[in-house]
Amino acid sequence: MGTLRDLQYALQEKIEELRQRDTLIDELELELDQKDELIQRLQNELDKYRSVLRPATAQQQGIALQPDQHRSKRHAISAEPTACDISDLSHVTLAFHPKSPQSREMIKAAILDNDFMKNLELSQIQEVVDCMYPVHYGMDACIIAEGDVGSLVYVMEEGKVEVTKEGMKLCTMGPGKVFGELAILYNCTRTATVRTLVNVKLWAIDRQCFQTIMMRTGLIKHAEYMDFLKSVPSFQDLPEETLSKLADVMEETHYEDGQFIIRQGARGDTFFIISKGKVNVTQEDPANQETAHLRELSRGDWFGEKALQGLVEFVCSLFLALIH
Ligand code: CMP
Repeated sequence: MGTLRDLQYALQEKIEELRQRDTLIDELELELDQKDELIQRLQNELDKYRSVLRPATAQQQGIALQPDQHRSKRHAISAEPTACDISDLSHVTLAFHPKSPQSREMIKAAILDNDFMKNLELSQIQEVVDCMYPVHYGMDACIIAEGDVGSLVYVMEEGKVEVTKEGMKLCTMGPGKVFGELAILYNCTRTATVRTLVNVKLWAIDRQCFQTIMMRTGLIKHAEYMDFLKSVPSFQDLPEETLSKLADVMEETHYEDGQFIIRQGARGDTFFIISKGKVNVTQEDPANQETAHLRELSRGDWFGEKALQGLVEFVCSLFLALIH
C-alpha cells in the first residue's frame, strides 16, 4: 500500500502532466489561430483572383504560352491594349512626391507583400513609391465603391478599413496593405467596397501614372532585347516581327560564377541566349563518372535549344542569361 508520500508524489506527477498538456493545448491553439489566419488570407487571395479571372482564351494574344506556365513574365500585368512607343511615353513627366524613408520602406514592403504587385521590377516599384501622394479619410468613409470605375491604387500607412462584397464582409486591413490594385491592373470595375473603420492615412497613385511606369519599363526592356537580338549574328536574318515576338517572351535571368544552368539528364524546357559572361558545357561519362569539357560559350551563343523541339511554335520560355 502506498504511503502518503507516494500519493503526494503521484499527485505532483499528475499536476505536472496536466501543466504540460495545458502548455501543449496553448501551443496547438496558437498554431490553429495562425493556420486560420493563413486560410483566411489565402481565401481572400483566391477571391481576388476569382474576381478578376477572365476566360483563358481571352488572355492569349498571338504569342503562345510557355510550357511551364508557372513562370509568368514579370511585367505582363497591367497591359491595357494601347498602341504607343517609348517616344510617346518618354515626354510624360511623372510627379514625384516627397516622403520619409520610413514611408518609402513601408510602401515598398506593402507592394512586395501583395500577390498581384510583388512581381513588378524593382525599378518600377521605386517609381511607384516616388509617385504616391498622401490621402486622408475620416472614420466611416467610403474609399472605394464596388462596381465603380477605379482610378487609384492605395497603400495604407495608418488606420483600418473593411472590405465588403455584395454586402458581405470579406476582411479588414491594417497598415502596410495595398488595396484598389485590381481595377487598375486588370482594367475592370472595382471588385469590392472599401470603407474606413477609423481615420486613415493612405498613399495613392493614379491609373495613368501607374500605367506609364509599367509600360515605360516594359517598352524600354523590349527595345533593349531587340537591340541585343539584332546584335547576335545568328538572329540577324530573322524578320523584325519574329525578333519582336522573341523579345516579348524573353526574360532576363542571372547566374553566379560556378552555378549550374542546366544539369545533364534534367528535363529541358528553356532556351538560353547568353547576353553577358561565359558558360562551360560539360558531359559526364556514366561509365567512369568523369566529366569531359566540351566547349565554352559566350555572348550571343545559345543553348537549351532541344527544349524547343516538339513544340508547334517557338513558344518556349526564352531566357537571356547573364553570367557574372
Ligand atoms: P479593386 O477591385 O480595385 O477595388 C476593391 C479592392 O478591394 C480590390 O481592388 C482589392 O484591393 C480589395 N479586395 C477585393 N477582394 C478582396 C478580398 N477577397 N480580400 C481582400 N481584399 C479584397
